[in-house]
Amino acid sequence: MNWLRRRQLLEQLECHRCRLLPQVIADFDMTLTKYMVEGRRGQSTHALLSQGSTDYDRKRQELFDIYYPMEISPNIPVEEKTKLMETWWGKSHGLLVEGGLNIENIRQSVEKGTVGFREGIADLFEILDGEGVPLLIFSAGLADIIEEILRQKLHRTFPNIRVVSNRMNFDKDGNLTGFIGKTIHVLNKNEHALEMAAPLHDEEGHSVGSNGNGSSFIKGRKNVILLGDHLGDLGMSDGVAYDNRISVGFLNENVENWLDTYRRAFDIVVLNDGTLDCVVELIQELR
Ligand code: C5P
Ligand code: MG
Repeated sequence: MNWLRRRQLLEQLECHRCRLLPQVIADFDMTLTKYMVEGRRGQSTHALLSQGSTDYDRKRQELFDIYYPMEISPNIPVEEKTKLMETWWGKSHGLLVEGGLNIENIRQSVEKGTVGFREGIADLFEILDGEGVPLLIFSAGLADIIEEILRQKLHRTFPNIRVVSNRMNFDKDGNLTGFIGKTIHVLNKNEHALEMAAPLHDEEGHSVGSNGNGSSFIKGRKNVILLGDHLGDLGMSDGVAYDNRISVGFLNENVENWLDTYRRAFDIVVLNDGTLDCVVELIQELR
């Protein structure tokens, strides 16, 4: 059994107000995607990106090697860690622009990348769409990569999905010129919690570009199911005036050090690449 606090969850479900109009807010990397993919460490949207220059890919990898251990360390105070994460994101976004990234690099990187959805994703997406439940994907990764992954790995489009993440700006030749808006990193998601995204696809199924105000998308949805692999992901619902929130934490590594903290912070904890079945069951209970 790799999900905990089941009893508490069931008690919350007995609250009949939960049965009204849910919405799902989900982190992307290592929450909707897997930590291990065919025996290899799954790549984040940042990590899978080859920008067409081995020099710049190496520089970004060097940053990862320095900052990722800090991201997952339970011993760095949150204020200090926030500054470190700001520095990391600032430098890696800067390298993407400086090193020259274009849209074709994104398409090829996703094709070659080690990235796979967590087991149960197809059932989850289908049931959310079928029940008309909005899914907001809220990521400190890269919106353009997330949307390319969704395009390449899903066999259909989902009008109920919005992506809020760091979004790139390209010139007319498809070259990256910068990022739109304020940077979202793992510890400041709460500051971006009011930003909602424009539809992923327009009515004819064409992809549409930038973040925008989509608050009508979740209007009146007073019951939140929040999915995340990082404590900072709990801040994703800060801007939502919800009545009830059930949080699911995906604990992928450093389990011994983090388990107590995750059990206190999240209502349900899923360990080691466990499936999304508990979320599907929740939605089934709520309909
Ligand atoms: O989707 P999510 O919010 O989880 O995306 C953020 C993840 O991207 C972080 O957990 C971090 O480890 C990873 N990251 C990275 N390279 C960067 C910045 C972030 O792999 N330059
Ligand atoms: Mg994550």
